[in-house]
Order: sequence, then C-alpha cells, then structure tokens
Amino acid sequence: MRRLTRQATKPLTYSLHAVRPEPIPSNLRALVIGVISAGVVILFRATVPYPPAPDLSRVLFWTLITITTAMFPVKLPGGVVAHITTAPIIAAVFDTQLVNPFAVCWIALIGTTEIRDLRREVPWYGTLYNRFAYVLAAFAAWLIFNFAQPLLKADEAFGTIALIVLVGLAFSVTNMFLAVAAASLRTNSPMARIWALSVSNTLFGTIALVFLGWLMAEVATRVGLWASVLFMVPLLLARYSFTKYAETRAMFLGTVSALSQAIDAKDGFTRGHADRVSRIAGAIAREMGLSERTIEEIELAGMLHDIGKIGVEDQILMKPARLDPHEQELMRRHPIYGASILEPSESLRPLVPLVLHHHENFDGSGYPEGRKGDDIPLGSRIIIVADAYEAMTSDRIYRKAIGHERAMDQLNRYKGIQFDPKVVRALGTLIEKHGAVAFEVSELPPINYETLAELRKRLAREPRARDAHAG
Ligand SMILES: [Fe+2]
Repeated sequence: MRRLTRQATKPLTYSLHAVRPEPIPSNLRALVIGVISAGVVILFRATVPYPPAPDLSRVLFWTLITITTAMFPVKLPGGVVAHITTAPIIAAVFDTQLVNPFAVCWIALIGTTEIRDLRREVPWYGTLYNRFAYVLAAFAAWLIFNFAQPLLKADEAFGTIALIVLVGLAFSVTNMFLAVAAASLRTNSPMARIWALSVSNTLFGTIALVFLGWLMAEVATRVGLWASVLFMVPLLLARYSFTKYAETRAMFLGTVSALSQAIDAKDGFTRGHADRVSRIAGAIAREMGLSERTIEEIELAGMLHDIGKIGVEDQILMKPARLDPHEQELMRRHPIYGASILEPSESLRPLVPLVLHHHENFDGSGYPEGRKGDDIPLGSRIIIVADAYEAMTSDRIYRKAIGHERAMDQLNRYKGIQFDPKVVRALGTLIEKHGAVAFEVSELPPINYETLAELRKRLAREPRARDAHAG
C-alpha cells in the first residue's frame, strides 16, 4: 500500500527544478517524522554491525522482483494505493537463505520505489514515508517470523499455515494502518471511512498475496531463484482484481453522478442541490455514529433522492406559481418514480427505500405511505432534514437563503412533526462542532453543473459545438 500521494486537486508545484522542497503539512508532520525515524533506527540496527556473509546477489534478486511489482500500483478509492509488492517482501521474510532482518529491510526500502517517486510526482516526505513504512512492516513481519517459528512446528501443515497467517498479519496490519493513517490525515477523512473504501475491499487479494509470497520463497529455496520469477503471472492476476474493484467503483459513482445531473439539468432552479444534500446527509449520518457502509448508502440516496422528478412534467416541475391540488398530487409521485428508476439496478437497489420515503414526515403526515417515526428508514429521516436545511440555506432564483440560524429555528420548530428530533439534534451538534466545513468530506466526485438552458445558450454561441451535437 502506498500512503502518501499528492492530492489530485493540488497543482504539481514540485519538480526536478524546484529550489525549495515543500514543507511537510502540519497535520502529517508527527506521523511522517515518527515513521521515518523509527524506520531509520531499524535499518541502522539491521545493518550495523554488518551481518556475516549476506548473499548480496540474492538480496539483489528479491529487490529487483519487488521493484518490478512496485511498477504496477493501483489507486484505490479513498486515496490509498494498492501494490502487489506484499508477495515478494513476504517471500524475503520466509527465504531462509537470506540474512534477515538485514536483507528484508533493504529489500523493502529500495524495492518498493515506484516510477512516481522517480518522477517526483510524490512530495519528498511522501516518498520517504512510504519507503520507511515498508521497512517497518517488513521488520514487523520478520519479528513475528523469528518469534513464532520455533514455537510452531513448521514441518506440519497446521504449523506452516499458522506461521504464514501470523507473518502476513504482522506485515499487512502495519502496512495498512500506516497507509490508512496517512490517507486519513491527508484527506481529512475518518480512518474508518478510508478503511471501508479501500482496504476492506482488497482484503482477500492481500491474503492471497501473503500465501503467494510464502510459495515464492518455498520455490526459490527448493527449486531455484529463477522459478520464483514464474510467480509474476499470478501476481499480475492479483493486481488485475484490485484494478477491477477500482474501475467498477469509479463506473458506479459515475453512473450515480450522471443520474443526479440528469435531474439537475432539467430543473435549473436547484442545481447542485442534490450534491449538497448528499454531503449534509452524509455528515449527519457520521455524526450519529452510523457505519461507513450505511453513511455511503445515505450519501448516494441523498444524491439521487429527487431522481423521480424526471417523471414529473416540466410545466408542473418548473411552475413559478403555487401548484393546484391536482398538480400537487402529480408532484407527490416523484418518490415512487424515483424508487422505480433505481429498482432495476442491483447496486442501486439498497437506496430504493431511502428514496421512496424521503418525504415521509415523522408524525405520519407525509407521503407516499404516511409512515411514522421509526417505521421510516433512518436514511430517509436524515435526507428530509438535509433536504430542508439545504433548501433554506442556499439562494434560489425566486428567494434568498435564510441563513443557518433561522434554518435551525425552522427545523427545531418542526421536530417531532416533520423531522426526527434525533436527526435535527445531530445536525445542530455537527455545525456547532465543525461549522460549514462539516459538509466537505465526501468520496463522491465533484460535479460540473450545466443546466439545459445554459447548454442551449452555449450551443447557440458555439456553432461548431452545435454541429457536433447535431448528430
Ligand atoms: Fe423530493
């Protein structure tokens, strides 16, 4: 796992010609300095006094194999980068012909260097942090190996498996913890969220890499070093599974954002509304201590809560005057339309109840089913509060925002009637604690909004673009 990369939004100001190296950001300083210092001490202790007759060509071989695998990083959601370097480092721990911890520490330090480090796409402290974090993980794995090997009978199946599991755990836990901690500080997201987004989904891949690493060492010692090169095939397959996860997720989020933009494009009055509701709802859910999986579901449902408005006629949706009872009746169908739009997609199906009930009032006076209290899904109770708060605190063409204080007054006035008091309280506490920044944490991609009206105007101005769209 790689822990520190540049933030995608930050311009690349650091180049080969940069005169002054950029300082370590203050939120990362303690972690970066701690990891680098610990890594330097371990490396020094492993090297001095110099171990008797280490087989340097063997060290070089494993370093080269590790470098080859480090050339294929996979960027996971949440800002963590997955590598298949776990396998050769574990192999180096198990290779009894190496002098350890000397060999494995140097292999981890040099072998994990990536093209991005050489191109200076990672800030200098990130490169050092990543390298020494690997040294710490490799050293932890060796410590456990050294401690557990005499206790477990390595010639028996159970003993061998237990040893592999323990060594793999020591390496992976250290490695993942340092990856998640750095990504969490860098992106200002909770560790649990980074874990849920990145590491938890690649756990099986990592376990496979640990066993592959052990097998590589066995083959290298019993058959010969050359034979372990054959393991590049299953290693690349493991990488492929990481890539597929990252791609599938990017595709999924792209679809959600496309759907959300569809409704924004139609209703120019409220553009950006769904995106903000999603962020507010997610922040409330986190404040209420819900699991990261649930929080993500609520964020996605917040993004898509009004998707059913696609099915409502334009003259009703964009009517500047008050809706008559019949029109109101039609407008009130949008949660049902929304649910039926999402239903066919297996990955969007968990959002159906949240979208269907996002206009249910706490006292049972809402629609479409008139559900009451805890019978309304918690996600819907959160979305209705986020929806109302967002609507009151942002400007619309037909009225000005009323501001946070008055919006909270309104929410408090209607708690127990329209809104779940617990949810309103959570929103109040959240803003007291963090201010408006509370809504910034989201994994969802930023959206570039352009309403249909704007698109029409732009096309009228740009004849070439219009011709391209004409097909
Ligand atoms: Fe709605």
